[in-house]
Amino acid sequence: TRQWRGVIEEYGDRLDIPAGTPVISLGEGGTPLVESAWLSEVTGGSVWLKVEGNNPTGSFKDRGMTVALSVAVGEGAEAVVCASTGNTSAAMAAYAAKARVKPLVLVPQGKIAAGKLAQAILHGAQVIMVRGNFDDCLRLSRGLADDYPVALVNSVNPMRLQGQKTASFEIVDVLGDAPDVHVLPTGNAGNISAYWLGYRESLSSGESRKLPVMRGWQAAGSAPLVQGAPVTDPETVASAIRIGNPASWDLAVEAARASGGRFRAVSDEQILHAQRELASSDGVFVEPASAAGVAGLLLEAAEGVRYDGQRVVVTVTGHGLKDIDTALSTFTDLVDTVCDADVDAAAAAAGLA
Ligand code: F0G
Repeated sequence: TRQWRGVIEEYGDRLDIPAGTPVISLGEGGTPLVESAWLSEVTGGSVWLKVEGNNPTGSFKDRGMTVALSVAVGEGAEAVVCASTGNTSAAMAAYAAKARVKPLVLVPQGKIAAGKLAQAILHGAQVIMVRGNFDDCLRLSRGLADDYPVALVNSVNPMRLQGQKTASFEIVDVLGDAPDVHVLPTGNAGNISAYWLGYRESLSSGESRKLPVMRGWQAAGSAPLVQGAPVTDPETVASAIRIGNPASWDLAVEAARASGGRFRAVSDEQILHAQRELASSDGVFVEPASAAGVAGLLLEAAEGVRYDGQRVVVTVTGHGLKDIDTALSTFTDLVDTVCDADVDAAAAAAGLA
């Protein structure tokens, strides 16, 4: 056996990056593809979860960040900047620490989960809280990168998609082909674009024999791709996808169109319900945004959509521990049960005796 080497070393020959790029890696990728007995039963299909919370900083962003930071360092960058709803900043800060370059992050004030903020701070980022939303932060990050010596590593940097497309490669490697349908949450729309790129490359290299239908799920209060127009004041409990004007709009729309897929929206209630059910039915704890695809499958099932005979992959994008405040806030009936430190008392408290 050998250790997984991270996405650049595992898939380097399939990444479109400059020759001689140094490798800044934390061992990202190689995440589990876990069969969901629960969702398979609900949908009639064979449903698999691509568990991206298992990445080094707890989200899929690490795949893109290893490539973006490696290329930036190779080009001589000494500082990197990103706008973020939390996960991108956590990933960028970690890879910047490893690369010994200075991380600068812009986040919407008061709108990012505590776990993600802690990661950015502990990894040494300078965190700027912007009075505005993610879309404002992205505009500022682009402006700073234009005018100052800091490299922009948001997914408008094509190196990010190069890294993130490796998730498709891994799925094809495990399943032996692309799935029939790929479902994932969509915010700034880089990830669906990256998966589509990866699946198309797998097909043309002969690794797979088909392309999946791409279905992106947005939060109802932040669903520009569903509405077909930017949303000025995006809102959702799923803070990671609280985005009104996705940067990869055209690529994402093309992925949905060319694959015969589409974008739809789920409510905050449906997202939180899906998060709880996934955790208690399958043992997979994801953050709220990550449950949007699962919520979408549940919504379709309620509408009568069946996936019999089809393989469905759902990307669950980030770890549940990122945002425990939101997770626990749904438990209005939580009661702590206190007991004395003896077996009889514990048995009585647990309702066993
Ligand atoms: N899920 C999670 C957990 C995310 O953090 C994000 C995006 C998405 C889904 C959506 O992916 O933007 O490629 O469509 N988070 C970014 C961030 C915006 O700043 O961390 P997307």
